[in-house]
Amino acid sequence: MNNKEVVAKTIFDVVKDDLTIEQVEHLLENPKSAEHGDVAFPTFSLAKIYRKAPQQIANDLAEKIEVTLFEKVEVVGPYINFFMDKKNVSHEVLTTVIEQGEHYGDFNIGNDDNVPIDMSSPNIAKPISMGHLRSTVIGNSIAFILQKVGYQPIKINHLGDWGTQFGKLITAYKKWGTEEEVRNNPIGELLRLYVEFHEKAEKDPSLEEKGRAAFRQLENNEQEAVSLWQWFRSESLKEFDKIYDMLGITFDSYKGEAFYEDKMDEIVELLEEKHLLKEDQGAEIVDLSAYDLNPALIKKQDGGTLYITRDMAAALYRKRTYDFAKSLYVVGNEQSYHFKQLKATLKEMGYDWSDDMVHIPFGLITKDGKKLSTRKGQIVLLEDVLNDAIQSAQEQIAEKNPSLQNKEEIAKQVGVGAVIFHDLKTDRLNTFDFTLDEVVRFEGETGPYVQYTYARAMSILRKAAFVADEEKKYALDDEGSWEIIKFIQDYPEMILEAANKYEPSVVAKHAIKLAQAFNKYYGNTRILAEDDQQEARLALVYVVTTLLKEDLRLLGLQAPARM
Ligand code: ARG
Repeated sequence: MNNKEVVAKTIFDVVKDDLTIEQVEHLLENPKSAEHGDVAFPTFSLAKIYRKAPQQIANDLAEKIEVTLFEKVEVVGPYINFFMDKKNVSHEVLTTVIEQGEHYGDFNIGNDDNVPIDMSSPNIAKPISMGHLRSTVIGNSIAFILQKVGYQPIKINHLGDWGTQFGKLITAYKKWGTEEEVRNNPIGELLRLYVEFHEKAEKDPSLEEKGRAAFRQLENNEQEAVSLWQWFRSESLKEFDKIYDMLGITFDSYKGEAFYEDKMDEIVELLEEKHLLKEDQGAEIVDLSAYDLNPALIKKQDGGTLYITRDMAAALYRKRTYDFAKSLYVVGNEQSYHFKQLKATLKEMGYDWSDDMVHIPFGLITKDGKKLSTRKGQIVLLEDVLNDAIQSAQEQIAEKNPSLQNKEEIAKQVGVGAVIFHDLKTDRLNTFDFTLDEVVRFEGETGPYVQYTYARAMSILRKAAFVADEEKKYALDDEGSWEIIKFIQDYPEMILEAANKYEPSVVAKHAIKLAQAFNKYYGNTRILAEDDQQEARLALVYVVTTLLKEDLRLLGLQAPARM
């Protein structure tokens, strides 16, 4: 039971006839300052029921209340302030975490149900952008968080490996590319060809027609086009995997858009059967005016299918394959309309499970206030960002801790962690402007700061050769530790909030606050002082390492024991 629940129950015992326990709990407040206790009960709203002044009510109730669970219960004006018995509560909290370890805060609300998570999903022959990084790290963290509350996440990389752009690329390669250059620098060269195509096509529109023709060859399974496409795809994947390796992120499936090419006819047939397809200037559309949306374009004039059609096939495939409880799409905010149309179209088809499809949008990363666009060749290469961050970590470690073993590996964990944490620490819908300097900063609210706090706490435990023992009585009653105890108490609720909102920033913020509270404690308290609370203080340090490590894990960061 957390403090509020304990207080609610205590008050409920004396107001049973007039209020429910939920009503009592709802009224409770967390006082802003410690001098007003840990939980406060304002009595204003009871004036009507008891026909008395709030002050009077506070006094009357406080007299009847069972006080043994508290250090003290104080009436201040219309408020009853409850001061928890710190020793009892800290003992209970610390032993709970010691017993449960990293499983503290686990839930079983997911029933082991499958939740496919569409994430990362970069486009073949283009570099992974900062936007894809966002999708990758947000999706990865959501997978860990959902697993913690009892779901079975399935991470799907829905590669953008199909569409008219591959016709353009094939055309550009045949005109201006060489095998050698593509082999040497696959994504750079393919991107260059793609950019060149667009530049030339502005002056020579006939190129567009050539590109469409090449894509038709691909759709018709013609050998030259298919083998070029396969080659572009596998070279691109090799490059993507380098980045996923650096991030330490794996996928359960790489089924991309091309996988659904042969599942498109079924979608069109189903739509026809249900009389949902309409002709519109030679194209086939589904009317969505009942949803206040523009029609979904299912088939183009030339018979080619579209992004949304492939997403319909993918949604149906996922339902059949995984029988999901929820199906998530971690995709930028700018595709919100697409996902509305996708869900509405499936709903029109009578698939009520489309209600379980959730688009999880996130804000755009801009550079100097402008959108990053691959088309114009103006992009930030993710690999460069990661390498710069690792480099910066190396320099700081060399300065702070030159004798550290395994420096390279730890610099990698810290540098990559900095990039991931930077991305996850603000609400995912926030837009942010990207500056490398800020990503690789090691002070303030950063991943390295949390990692460093963890390593520092670990070193205290090593020094004291502390071994946690759930049978022991670890009881603390000082103000400094009490602040941390309250963070620990809130942990399970924090996990639930992160899961319900699909919001890794909730975890990141908790990690920062816990690290800050711990560093403050560390600065003000002699943890290793030889008095009768030393063991209990060490138990607190141990519990803090358990939670920081679990927070870092949920965000997809490593927790090096030394830094
Ligand atoms: N490849 C797309 C892009 O880079 C993202 C795909 C998202 N997933 C999906 N099922 N539509 O914009």
